[in-house]
Amino acid sequence: MAARMDVLLGAQWGDEGKGKVVDVIAPQYEVIARFQGGPNAGHTLIFEGHKHVLHTIPSGVFREGTINLVGNGVVIDPIIFLKELKALDDAGVDVRPTLLVSRRAHLILPTHRALDAASEAEKGKAKIGSTLKGIGPTYMDKTGRNGLRVGDLERHDLMDRYTVLKRKHERLLAMYGQPGVDAQAEAEWLDAARTLRELQLVDSEHYLDQALRQGKRVLAEGAQGTLLDIDFGTYPFVTSSNTICAGASTGLGVAPNRIGAVTGIFKAYCTRVGSGPFPTELEDDMGEQIRKAGHEFGSTTGRARRCGWLDLPALHYAVMINGITELAMMKADVLNGLDTVRICTGYKVNGTYTERMPYDITTGVEPMYEDMPGWGELHHEAPLPAALERYMARIEQAVGVPITLVSLGPDRAQTVLRKGALVH
Ligand code: IMP
Repeated sequence: MAARMDVLLGAQWGDEGKGKVVDVIAPQYEVIARFQGGPNAGHTLIFEGHKHVLHTIPSGVFREGTINLVGNGVVIDPIIFLKELKALDDAGVDVRPTLLVSRRAHLILPTHRALDAASEAEKGKAKIGSTLKGIGPTYMDKTGRNGLRVGDLERHDLMDRYTVLKRKHERLLAMYGQPGVDAQAEAEWLDAARTLRELQLVDSEHYLDQALRQGKRVLAEGAQGTLLDIDFGTYPFVTSSNTICAGASTGLGVAPNRIGAVTGIFKAYCTRVGSGPFPTELEDDMGEQIRKAGHEFGSTTGRARRCGWLDLPALHYAVMINGITELAMMKADVLNGLDTVRICTGYKVNGTYTERMPYDITTGVEPMYEDMPGWGELHHEAPLPAALERYMARIEQAVGVPITLVSLGPDRAQTVLRKGALVH
């Protein structure tokens, strides 16, 4: 019988811990597919005492036999991609036999990265806080119909296409008063692109159609988070792709009516890296305490993440936009030992109370909090403390979907399945 594709994505501003959940539930799936974003993402997995950070490669690579597919919606920087492969090789993981790359995925050129930096510099104080991996300019070329795709690596006129695009970028860089990219960086990129061509390039929409018809279990893995979505995030402080569930359809070529369960990942609190509005941000000692306890520093850029209390209107919005059927709550242990845990249940927007995410949260939005008793130390073997159960019950009541997985630490083993619902 034909199977459905499940989707797992971030319900906040990214960095929710998606990589860990994918890794934990990967054994239930035969295919794990990334559908958007690129090396701006950093999915951290920790097991047996080793830390692994993945940027473009799906998080199923550490489970033997799982096929890992990089979908058409992803943008690939060949240099970073190969570094990732090398790091996996060094860790004794040969992913080549199980790694598939869509021919329709777009390529990030060195000049895309230069344009990203130039555009951010030009914005000055209004900068997005981009990871500077060339994501925005690459998606701009995709929608502008100028992009270079993985499939172009197989064409005899690859160099002509590359040169046309590079020249266009050089003209734009000159407009910003910036130089082009030096010959060495270009040679390194071309070398990496040739190696990328040697991987298994596929027409991934057909591959997935076939896999689903054969009843294979497929999981679509999102990057970044709902509030960074190009349409529904806190624009313009967003990334340049659709991070939401609908992005899994366009980013993989799987029709919406073939989507099954949608799992939203969120942290027991909120973080945001880069610029942009963040109503529950804590700019005091409590924020610092959460940052330290949660090691809230970017896995891609090393930047300190801004921290704040859990925002229920925002989480509810994510549940609505994505059709989330179940939630996974990460990093509950980071709030261990607090006497009181605050939770934002609504906003006052220009004096009027609402539980709805407004169009603009940049100014005039005051978070309204409910205080809840904290829990002590957590031990995954023991039943979860009553105070933590009450915290989760409050969240479930507000957003209308169950929390089926709780993470109590970075290791695979520090995970509690509630109600067993992630095991479909
Ligand atoms: P870009 O996607 O690199 O252009 O960055 C745009 C915005 O999204 C910036 O605020 C970044 O900090 C943020 N961002 C991009 N990727 C991630 C991610 O994987 N986790 C968290 N924030 C991200």
